[in-house]
Amino acid sequence: MRTYEPDLARIDVDGLTRRLHVRKPDMLEFSSNDYLDLAGHPLLKEASVRAIELYGSSVAASRLMSGNISLHEELEKRLARLTGMESALLFGSGYLANIGLLSSITSRDDLVFSDRLNHASLVDGALLSRAGVLRYRHCDTDHLEYFLANRTSRGDRFIVTDSLFSMDGDIAPLRKLEELSLRYNCNLIVDESHAIGVFGNGGGICRESGIKPHTLIGTLSKALGSYGGFAAGSADLIEYLINRARTFIYSTGLPPAAPAAALKALDIIESQPECGRKLLSMASDFRGMIEPTGYSTAPSESQIVPVRVGENRDAVAFSEYFNRNGISAVAIRPPTVPAGTARIRFSVTLRHSRKDLSYAAGKLDFSNSGVQ
Ligand SMILES: Cc1ncc(COP(=O)(O)O)c(C=O)c1O
Repeated sequence: MRTYEPDLARIDVDGLTRRLHVRKPDMLEFSSNDYLDLAGHPLLKEASVRAIELYGSSVAASRLMSGNISLHEELEKRLARLTGMESALLFGSGYLANIGLLSSITSRDDLVFSDRLNHASLVDGALLSRAGVLRYRHCDTDHLEYFLANRTSRGDRFIVTDSLFSMDGDIAPLRKLEELSLRYNCNLIVDESHAIGVFGNGGGICRESGIKPHTLIGTLSKALGSYGGFAAGSADLIEYLINRARTFIYSTGLPPAAPAAALKALDIIESQPECGRKLLSMASDFRGMIEPTGYSTAPSESQIVPVRVGENRDAVAFSEYFNRNGISAVAIRPPTVPAGTARIRFSVTLRHSRKDLSYAAGKLDFSNSGVQ
């Protein structure tokens, strides 16, 4: 009989036990990805309620059966327009989009070159297809080029990267990656989950930089204040995914409230294109407030601001200390981040006031706080 105690004991010895905490509404929230503060917006709630009244709480079938509603298709058109891609397809989540995409478009004969700090879902998708995976050092295009020049495959080759890295808040060298993908005849896949809604007037970093990847991935569950994920690319690719992506074919369509809320979020973002820039400027101020405490926020250049503390148990102790001070900021530990780089990850959102940012940054001045 399979037992779990030995593994759980080992996890505990390494200081890696994860526990669920119920969110407390009175906390100053620095762990949320609701970057534009849209999840509780009255217009999103109203749109969701209207969609539920019209279609019910679930579409109760795969979109290839009876689960396809006009809200899905309208949102796909809007997401394609937002990202500057030809076509888009919704998935149950960003995770499912990455798994569905990579497991269907890559195969045993292909090679995937993946940034070492890419999100787990990009890694898992390639594993499922049994494609060869080579992980290049984080944002190190020389290392990637070494692989590209020396590793051939019988099939196709793919460069896969996050645009904005979720645990460091830094940005991939996308122009160089695009140049390498063209020079070495590779397909460039960019996951814009943390950048959609924030960068490039909401369209993401590729859009902002004039880069056209082979496929762009995004989520509705962060800046768009809703739930679900999407892949965007050529019309042919999207038709292929409808026929081959197992996480699309064999899974229920998004519940009506989700695309309705995301559509409303897009209306708001399109009518207030400066909101992403405002958020990035607040995050830059926050990093400036942290600097005097002696903690480094490098390499962050976005609304994701990690403060590295190194040891797993220290990260947990700091997180608990913030909690006692009314701040929710989670400890991020391996395997989410490399061993020895445990950190507290702050995400700045439009909900924060300058006073909130200054309060949280002040609490990092451990010389006055008594934290051990
Ligand atoms: C880069 C990246 N891709 C994909 C995902 C998964 O998105 P979702 O939460 O919609 O499943 C995340 C979520 O943390 C992410 O950071």
